[in-house]
Amino acid sequence: MIKKGIILAGGMGTRMSPLTKAVNKQLLPIYDKPLIFYPLSILMLAKIKDILIIVNKGQLNQYKKLFPNGNNLGIKISFKEQEKPKGLPDAFVLGEKFIGKENVAMILGDNFFYGQNLTSKLLECAKISSGAKVLLHNVKEPGLFGVAKINKNNKIIQLKEKPKKFISNHAITGLYFFDNKVVKYSKSLKPSKRGEIEIIDLLLKYKKINKLTADFIGRGGAWLDTGSIDDYYKTIAFVQAVENRQGFKIACIEEIALSNKWIGKKEIKDSIKFYGNCNYSKYLKKLI
Ligand code: TTP
Repeated sequence: MIKKGIILAGGMGTRMSPLTKAVNKQLLPIYDKPLIFYPLSILMLAKIKDILIIVNKGQLNQYKKLFPNGNNLGIKISFKEQEKPKGLPDAFVLGEKFIGKENVAMILGDNFFYGQNLTSKLLECAKISSGAKVLLHNVKEPGLFGVAKINKNNKIIQLKEKPKKFISNHAITGLYFFDNKVVKYSKSLKPSKRGEIEIIDLLLKYKKINKLTADFIGRGGAWLDTGSIDDYYKTIAFVQAVENRQGFKIACIEEIALSNKWIGKKEIKDSIKFYGNCNYSKYLKKLI
């Protein structure tokens, strides 16, 4: 089982400027909690307890206010600053020491996942022992995404970033599972025309050795990339609708830690003290 996970939570957030001029995108609210809670909850659902959060240079203090340590969640959280956005695979260059000799999952800090059977799917993906695995989701406009064509065995046979000609409607989402070679491969990547090292080039390295597989979130699931202002508000509306109708929260990280038996009553009480008198704390109180 994969034990280590990285959240890539830097970036310029250009598409959402001026909202992201002073505050990092991942710290903006998605309804009742910061955006970063959502990708963090996904790693925790995959039973990953050792987590590296990559942040922009100069923004570490803000993140540390939100996560002074992982004690209240029963997990280990560490941070690494990224000098400037050099591309998604830079996560594995910066994370080399953190990853060590292990396999690793990586999730983009602005990606939102929700759905039936998602937890069992995540646990299945986290079993990967060699090669790489991506999660795919069907989209109406594949030309806006990195897309993958697969064969009967869910092996990826073609990959293309924002294809002009249709190859498939399976978009590659921002959650990836890699074996330890990812560090070596990422270090060997050359920047593209836009000056970044590209995730698609990293995935192509795995495809070349026939080690790139895929799984699907499935029709009952939702995937939203909150990176544009419209998608950001769509995500907020989605969370608000689900939470208010069903009375439970999406991405309550303490609830996940409790159900994973990583924490008990004491830690929940500590979290309530930490957040103060708010609806989120009231929800936590109900859990115990
Ligand atoms: P992007 O959506 O590619 O970039 P961005 O969030 O800065 O937004 P924009 O395109 O509007 O400028 O990044 C996806 C996620 O990965 C996002 O959460 C930011 C993060 N990221 C980093 O932390 N470091 C990087 O080098 C890159 C490229 C992205």
